Amino acid sequence: MSYCAIILAAGKGHRYSKTIPKQYTVFDNELIINYSLKIFSEINTIKKIILVINKPQFTKFKDRVYRNKKITIIQGGKERKDSVFLALSRLQRANYKKILIHDAARPFLKKKLLNKIIKFSKKNEAVIPYTSNTDTIVFKNKILDRKKVLSIQTPQCFSYKKIFFLHKEYKNKKFSDESSLYLYKNLKVKKILGDYDNIKITIKKDLNNDKKISYGIGYDIHKLEKDYKLYLGGIYIPYSMGTVGHSDGDPVIHALIDSLLGSKKLGDIGTLFPNNKKFKNKRSTFFLKKVINFIEAKNIKINNIDINIIAQKPNLKKYKNIISKNLAKICNVSENQISVKGKTTDRLGNVGKNKAIACEVISSVTNN
Ligand code: CTP
Ligand code: MG
Repeated sequence: MSYCAIILAAGKGHRYSKTIPKQYTVFDNELIINYSLKIFSEINTIKKIILVINKPQFTKFKDRVYRNKKITIIQGGKERKDSVFLALSRLQRANYKKILIHDAARPFLKKKLLNKIIKFSKKNEAVIPYTSNTDTIVFKNKILDRKKVLSIQTPQCFSYKKIFFLHKEYKNKKFSDESSLYLYKNLKVKKILGDYDNIKITIKKDLNNDKKISYGIGYDIHKLEKDYKLYLGGIYIPYSMGTVGHSDGDPVIHALIDSLLGSKKLGDIGTLFPNNKKFKNKRSTFFLKKVINFIEAKNIKINNIDINIIAQKPNLKKYKNIISKNLAKICNVSENQISVKGKTTDRLGNVGKNKAIACEVISSVTNN
């Protein structure tokens, strides 16, 4: 049996934002609308996809909207039901027995659910996915049985002829999805358990763009020599030797900077602060402050930073807290977000022979 899918993306998304329509918002480097287009395109039994759009919005984003031979784009209508009706009308001569209708505003649909709906549609005229509620549900001061209150999702699957017929019959009635038409008429529908992740993006909070965590790693090593000062994490450590470097040679801050830049693919310390005259003998705290300003301007928020300082000598026990306090202040985070650990290499290698001090850092960040 061959299927046609209607993907609805002609809404204004006013509850989400007055400026950028939700279906054209970027989530995890992909337009919301593309998630649905891709998943439906991957199913072999779906031979055609009608993408319903609103032209003025679409024009701005059309270069980034996913396309292939299966996809036909049409102009939608005023309400969701008008958009569906226009798509159904378009298919009158196409001879598809089954029609899948999906909101582009549900980007988290998984193939597993889509395939399950298709499977059930072979023996059922109408298949709709639902989830049940966990909150107490009150209607006009009456408590309803929450297990019996269902939230209906898309995609929904119907016989093409029947759903087109019902759309015409209820042309003057308001309804928010096609399952409503079957339910008004008390027609048989097969309800199957949907997916709690398959939410409809409606308000800003629904898209946890800000909750996307990314990580960056940084590493640095500097030679230890007499007649140099030792700075670790911006703190002066009294010791018989110090680190050699173009700047003050602070491996902790250098590794930290690289980890922060790496977490959002913003380059590395050498690109931002090359080994030229301008940065000669500069304190590394100067670079870190610049990087913090840079990432804050990009709305990047630090979650936590984990630091390993690898030094045979001096013993850093009494400095760990001081370093974490100092870095927290510069990074505008609390002390609890920065962990500083000390490590020796059991006298192995250059660090073990006290010829160098190294540092490795992992930073975790999110977008504000
Ligand atoms: N939709 C559509 N044509 C319309 C209205 C809505 O194709 N005239 C689509 C939306 O793009 C969305 C789906 O129907 O994918 C569900 O609608 P809804 O969540 O209400 O989205 P919007 O109408 O865009 O949002 P809002 O009601 O907040 O303006
Ligand atoms: Mg709407």
